[in-house]
Amino acid sequence: KSVEGNVCVIDELKNVFEVAIASAYPYLEKPPVAITLSGNNPKFGDYQCNSAMGISQLLKAKNIKSNPREVANNILNKAPTSPLIERIEVAGAGFLNIFVNKAFTEHVLNSILRFGVKPPPVKKERVIVDFSSPNIAKEMHVGHLRSTIIGDSICRVLEFLDYDVLRINHLGDWGTQFGMLIAHLQDKFPNFKTHSPPISDLQAFYKESKKRFDEDEEFKKRAYACVVKLQSHESDYITAWKLICEVSRQEFQKIYDRLDIKIIDRGESFYHDRMHVVVKLLKEKGFLEEDEGRLIMWADEKREGIPLTVVKSDGGYTYDTSDMAAIRQRVEEEKGDRFIYVTDAGQQTHFVLIDACARRAGILKDDQKVEFVGFGVVLGEDKKKFKTRSGDTIKLIDLLDEGLKRSLDKLVEKGRDKVLTPEELKQAQEAVAYGCIKYADLSHNRVNDYVFSFDKMLDDKGNTAVYLLYALTRIRSIARTAQVSLEQLLAEAKKTGLKFNHESEWKLAKVLLRFPEIILKVSKDLYLHSLCEYLYEISSAFTEFYDKCYCVEKDKEGKIVNIIYERLMLCEVTARIMEKALEILGIKTVSKM
Ligand code: ARG
Repeated sequence: KSVEGNVCVIDELKNVFEVAIASAYPYLEKPPVAITLSGNNPKFGDYQCNSAMGISQLLKAKNIKSNPREVANNILNKAPTSPLIERIEVAGAGFLNIFVNKAFTEHVLNSILRFGVKPPPVKKERVIVDFSSPNIAKEMHVGHLRSTIIGDSICRVLEFLDYDVLRINHLGDWGTQFGMLIAHLQDKFPNFKTHSPPISDLQAFYKESKKRFDEDEEFKKRAYACVVKLQSHESDYITAWKLICEVSRQEFQKIYDRLDIKIIDRGESFYHDRMHVVVKLLKEKGFLEEDEGRLIMWADEKREGIPLTVVKSDGGYTYDTSDMAAIRQRVEEEKGDRFIYVTDAGQQTHFVLIDACARRAGILKDDQKVEFVGFGVVLGEDKKKFKTRSGDTIKLIDLLDEGLKRSLDKLVEKGRDKVLTPEELKQAQEAVAYGCIKYADLSHNRVNDYVFSFDKMLDDKGNTAVYLLYALTRIRSIARTAQVSLEQLLAEAKKTGLKFNHESEWKLAKVLLRFPEIILKVSKDLYLHSLCEYLYEISSAFTEFYDKCYCVEKDKEGKIVNIIYERLMLCEVTARIMEKALEILGIKTVSKM
């Protein structure tokens, strides 16, 4: 079997041990095959198989005498040879320590050097990712920012693996709030049909209409009447609604452009007719029950917890109805296999219920997965809800602007404005500003709340985007100073390949080897912080390597006297994997900063 740059070592080892265990214990049904990383002590090898203990238990249950050490030895004896494995040792109470083969690793990294960073192969699936999803006319707040950043990065991981990904913006563009917005629009801009109203600040417009709605009974009545007319698709009302949506969309798009987010608008209104259909279907199948005038649906017969409200007592539809229609559309029309929702943790119960009811109604089949990607709240540095000094909610555009300002300050503080061209400085400024905001979010376990702090995220020490971007430019500058072009490097690679002679070269190489396994893990559990931790691990291993191993030797006058090409190759592979990982996190890299 040929070895490619995209091989997932841990999965290959799993295969090897599956074969070994099956041949040592053919009469055991589903024996455990557990492979893990070994941790920091090189004595314990690179990976570990801890199956012997579990198997020994299974044998005991069958009244077969054994002890884990003996089981480990049996597995060892049956292990097929593999180019990945240098040797296996039995240790302690029956651990199998696996040492990765150096020639194999050299070969893998060489193939990355020659052919680029390629994804490990996966079974193709269609994945629908519902993320960002702000509400029209209301503000897009930091919670939506989190959803946008996390959702985009999830799409990037899956796209890298060549899944068929559909990025959906489930905009809140259909609801009773449009009644008061339209009524207010009619008063403020009576000729809105012919002259596009100059609404520059939709949030202020929203506030004005909300105020009238709360204080003026007459207005309130009109607002309700507007909702009815909108729902029955009266053309003037649709025009007004479209106008308002458009203003919002343009605002959202500014954020997406800056953060380089691709997403398709498909708001709740898209499901308007499909809601009728799904309600009819649920009614016919007998899943809807009356409850104080409304129609509800329970997750199962036990009627525990809370039900979905599918139809309100006034006949209107709800957030639940639109999500039932949406999931049905994603199954039937989009032919999705996997459905991912990225919202704040508070909506988990909603999506668990949608999942359960869609399954109960036969919309979802067993092999289709619904995954809820929840995240915690964004807090200010005072650990309270993130607000401006005056207590207002923070506008995302202002936040991004502040990021730009702070990142420029930081670059100037370091004197970078004197070395970089204006164009390079601007690129660095944007890469740092948006990169640091994204990375701060992604590098924390998403289920936890997180404290938004520009000071922390712009620190050039520790696990931050700034640190990684600097580390990367430093690596990139090594070949530049050596004046070795990529062509030269590739020509050398063809001749000699990569060779790891020094201990710290070997250590770095083994970290790089793990890229496919990290990517596959993230693509399954959708926790991006492990990719961030991995990036940090790479740059730490690189620092150690670079401290101990010179790549270019210079004499006293600074003239280059010796170039160690194998090490420059290792630098190149390191940079490529870091760049790929950063790209997956949605972070732009720069060659100089
Ligand atoms: N608009 C919602 C909010 O702002 C999020 C929508 C999430 N997606 C969905 N299919 N319900 O909280």
